[in-house]
Amino acid sequence: MSDSAQKQGDAFENLLHEERRFPPTDEFAANAVAQPSLYEEASSQGSEFWAAQARNLLTWDTDFTQTLDWSDAPFAKWFVGGKVNAAYNALDRHVAAGLGDRVAIHFEGEPGDTRTITYAELTEEVKKASNAFESLGVAKGDRVAVYLPMIPEAVITMLACARIGAVHSVVFGGFSAEALRSRIDDAEAKLVVTSDGTYRRGKPSALKPAVDGALGREGHTVSSVVVVKRNGEPVEWTEGRDLWWHDVVDSASPEHTAEAHDSEHPLFILYTSGTTGKPKGILHTTGGYLTQTAFTHKNTFDLRPETDVFWCTADIGWVTGHSYVTYAPLINGATQLMYEGTPDTPHQGRWWELVEKYKVSILYTAPTAIRTFMKWGRDIPQKFDLSSIRVLGSVGEPINPEAWMWYREVIGGSKAPIVDTWWQTETGAHMIAPMPGVTATKPGSAQVAVPGISIDVVDELGESVPNGSGGYLVIREPWPAMLRGIWGDPERFKETYWSRFDNMYFAGDGAKKDEDGDIWLLGRVDDVMNISGHRLSTTEIESALVSHPSVAEAAVVGAADETTGEAVVAFVILRGSAKDDDDIVTTLRNHVGKEIGPIAKPRNILVVPELPKTRSGKIMRRLLKDVAEGREAGDSSTLADNTVMQQIAASLRK
Ligand code: PRX
Repeated sequence: MSDSAQKQGDAFENLLHEERRFPPTDEFAANAVAQPSLYEEASSQGSEFWAAQARNLLTWDTDFTQTLDWSDAPFAKWFVGGKVNAAYNALDRHVAAGLGDRVAIHFEGEPGDTRTITYAELTEEVKKASNAFESLGVAKGDRVAVYLPMIPEAVITMLACARIGAVHSVVFGGFSAEALRSRIDDAEAKLVVTSDGTYRRGKPSALKPAVDGALGREGHTVSSVVVVKRNGEPVEWTEGRDLWWHDVVDSASPEHTAEAHDSEHPLFILYTSGTTGKPKGILHTTGGYLTQTAFTHKNTFDLRPETDVFWCTADIGWVTGHSYVTYAPLINGATQLMYEGTPDTPHQGRWWELVEKYKVSILYTAPTAIRTFMKWGRDIPQKFDLSSIRVLGSVGEPINPEAWMWYREVIGGSKAPIVDTWWQTETGAHMIAPMPGVTATKPGSAQVAVPGISIDVVDELGESVPNGSGGYLVIREPWPAMLRGIWGDPERFKETYWSRFDNMYFAGDGAKKDEDGDIWLLGRVDDVMNISGHRLSTTEIESALVSHPSVAEAAVVGAADETTGEAVVAFVILRGSAKDDDDIVTTLRNHVGKEIGPIAKPRNILVVPELPKTRSGKIMRRLLKDVAEGREAGDSSTLADNTVMQQIAASLRK
């Protein structure tokens, strides 16, 4: 295990003796969607368990003939021969079943504007968008880049793509023009769907200029840009390329028949940070992904589509927004809330006001948000009626027991079970999570594998570790929602996930099994940081920094941060002529914002004379992390020049 994982492991050591247990109430357990028998079925049936789920949760146009083809491992094929349409399953079939009047989406804009969209209305919108995209020449297999805020058109666009077999690539609205450009290029997108902008903290905020920036050059593959009018701010317009959504979609025909696609037809690409500078385009396909997202949404959250109001607070720019905003809730026929803005606009009680207003019963959010609310104080949520809440979910990073307890008591009224869900962009859906009616939950631990999923913690040699020990988190068997590869780079797929251990998927996370065999996640063991539940690579930010003319060298580490989990701290060596002053720090922070996006801006940039390197030239980030976290630097005996740490300390004292 790497040094930093070891250190984190030590820090978590005391948690392994967590004594608190919160079993479900008898009433919850008796009526729960997921019963203990689910685990028994899963372990006795092997992959056939998933075949049963696929047939139960989805309506197949053509049934599959083989559950899993693993002959070309690690390239899996699930539900071979089956044909299915994601949008039909999310929409048309519910309308056909008489549920057209059920609310699919309660939308609340940041300024307070609202829209209530039923399944019938959403179906019609998606059909119109499908016709509009087809009329722009988008065909099955083409890629569509989506750069939108959290507005219903985001979901409509994704489902319209799925309906016609186009592959969406959603790019988070907080990424820069540069980041958008590289993603458009890598996927060779034909269409971009964006908006004039959105609202942020009570003010209009622009999106279209980033698209213009990304496309402001020869040689890109985009022929059309469809623009949703959201905030009404003026935008630059490229005639012949740019089209308003309200012109092309509103006038399109509401009739559209969904063609069934192969179970393994690509559904989407989603870029995520890895250990190199270049983000990876994670590829997901249709049948397996839909099955496992719908299965977990129903069982992990104890979903009752007739009565629940589900709210996943993630942006559609991340995988959580894909799986648990766009796909699973609609496949399951649920009613959900979608909120455009920030939690503190116009006041710090906005979320709780929304929970009260829409009677949200299942809330799914990230520890970073919970810690922020803790800081703001419990009196704020306590002003609102949160009694509708019956299940609470957590995702994105380890949740510290203190935040877990606060979430349970203040938001969950000391009764709603908390489900801490571990998964990744690559896994597509929950992999480790308690089942709320079965598992006695433990503050801080994601605990057990989802039924049908085979999780383990192994040592350096790939041997399963005993209870009470730590190591690397792996997945032993293929799973339906697993990534099918990295877009355009099959070798990198094998190398990244399948080469560390034989026949096991290496997740990149450190983990421990406690005395009960429950799993505790300990953070990444590679050069990936987790900032507010968002993945960023140290190398990517280092590349952005050294692309600035004032920077000679840069090293980036993730330092512990009370609110965001980790924060970006950069150490830079300036070029000879560059001056070390406050301006340079501001300039470099803005430069990273421009290259990657505001989320990647370092919290601190420290100008240093040297970086600690081993004799082979590798930067010892562990030592920099010590400095960033205000500790005495650890063992530096393997440095090529062991005075470097003193030089750094001296320069920082100045
Ligand atoms: O380190 C783990 C952490 O987030 C990483 C995956 O990030 P991403 O692909 O952006 O997906 C985030 C949302 C699914 C993992 O490798 N992570 C995610 N969920 C948890 C977590 N760490 C601890 N506990 C979790 N529940």
